[in-house]
Amino acid sequence: MTMQWWRDAVIYQVYPRSFADGDGDGVGDIAGIRARLGHLRDLGVDAIWMSPWYPSPMADAGYDVSDFRDIDPVFGDLSEAEELIAEAHEAGIRIIIDIVPNHISSEHPWFKAALKSEEAPERDYFWFRKSQNMPTKWIGEFGGTAWTRVDDDTWYLHLFTPEQPDLNWEHPAVRSEFESILRFWFDRGADGIRIDSAALLFKDPALPEVTDGEPHPFHDLDAVHDVYRSWRRIADEYPDRALIGEVWMPDVERFTNYLRPDELHAAFNFDFLGCAWDPYLMRSCIDRTLDAHARVGAPPTWVLSNHDVTRHVTRYGRADTTFSFENNLDGTPVDLELGTRRARAAALLTLSLPGSAYVYQGEELGLWENESIPEDQIQDPMYARRGHTRDGCRVPLPWSGDEPPFDFTTGAPWLPQPAEWKDRTVQAQTGDPSSMLELYRSAIRLRTFKDQEFAWLDRGEGVLAWTRGSDFACVLNLSGAPVPLPEHRTVLLASGPLDGDLLPQDTAVWLSLRK
Ligand code: GLC
Repeated sequence: MTMQWWRDAVIYQVYPRSFADGDGDGVGDIAGIRARLGHLRDLGVDAIWMSPWYPSPMADAGYDVSDFRDIDPVFGDLSEAEELIAEAHEAGIRIIIDIVPNHISSEHPWFKAALKSEEAPERDYFWFRKSQNMPTKWIGEFGGTAWTRVDDDTWYLHLFTPEQPDLNWEHPAVRSEFESILRFWFDRGADGIRIDSAALLFKDPALPEVTDGEPHPFHDLDAVHDVYRSWRRIADEYPDRALIGEVWMPDVERFTNYLRPDELHAAFNFDFLGCAWDPYLMRSCIDRTLDAHARVGAPPTWVLSNHDVTRHVTRYGRADTTFSFENNLDGTPVDLELGTRRARAAALLTLSLPGSAYVYQGEELGLWENESIPEDQIQDPMYARRGHTRDGCRVPLPWSGDEPPFDFTTGAPWLPQPAEWKDRTVQAQTGDPSSMLELYRSAIRLRTFKDQEFAWLDRGEGVLAWTRGSDFACVLNLSGAPVPLPEHRTVLLASGPLDGDLLPQDTAVWLSLRK
């Protein structure tokens, strides 16, 4: 394994509830992941990022943590987690765990103590305020108000659901608790930490309203960098550990502040994730990403999907191919064939740009968003507050068989799977050279160019093309008409059928150039 593995790794996101169920209760678990580790080994990924697996009342699918040093019984127990880490390491796969520092569960002992008495020291670990009216009109991250009243004149702050009270990061006890949690997991072999809502930790204690042109009261306050510098010092005490931030930030300068040499190692590129399927916008997004990361010496990341956003087969099949939480496109017409063709091309793009690539479970199977989950089965708390559910991308994986639950579970899956996924199971796609799964397997296997220098290749309007070193090129045709391939020795991989020596629209190829 190379040093600084996070610089060019393929990192696979496991959403434990929906990966594989080992005990038949319909919810994925560690036993299921261990039993299916072979899938990840065959895919060839370098690391797994596990969404939260800690004890939680599951008000926000585990992003409401009540104990960071244990595992929720629905997923297993701590010794199984340790065994999973060991088995993954034996298979050459690193493990990244998810830490949620902005808030904890209202069932966490700290919050329970804080509620019990105004004098409890834990009261200061949160944002309690006395006021007749709601202390601010802040809109929370899921929409809706950000304060809940506990008695006549006392409120507490929660940027997400009321079950996720925000922590007060000015308090030294909060800082030292999380430093100890990092050590707890590094000591157990975690190779990296994904940091949830990484830019939200600090709030302006004067509690001003959000005003255009004024500093934001809870997004990206400068004090947060000091926390990540201290986390970096801890990570550096261990060999080869990586800190990866979930930083949603339209301003790319402010974004890369998180990636300065003494802060986080990497952060998710949501600018790219939300970008339209358009040659000019994509080219400028890639340039912006490469320039900004080069300035701080951090590796770019390429993310197409995760557990919070509409799956990209669906996004790329819509008339509007952008993504943002503000612009809800649920239920707008989708051409899944088009979306799949573009998703195949996008895979060759993200896996050949410099930096690391993230694969969200199921994208290697070409899964689309399940937009027809019956309302009474929706569990995502965002739905009530914003009218958009993230459950459509969280549907359990189809492994084999012709009908749901496709061997995900022996019971009833916690969210319904589309019957049409019978062609998208791991079993159905294995060995089929035209399948999404075999495309991902081949692409990951062929990424031997990953330490070679990147350069744009000019192939005319609407064509994105680049080389890595002297032997490799990727060409993606977004021009609206077939285009000729550059001179090459062989086609290593193509996202779709070629038309003789022409590259059709919405298709990408990897070429070996050497004569
Ligand atoms: C992050 C997570 C999301 C969660 C939220 C609150 O954005 O990715 O799933 O709901 O934080 O923890």
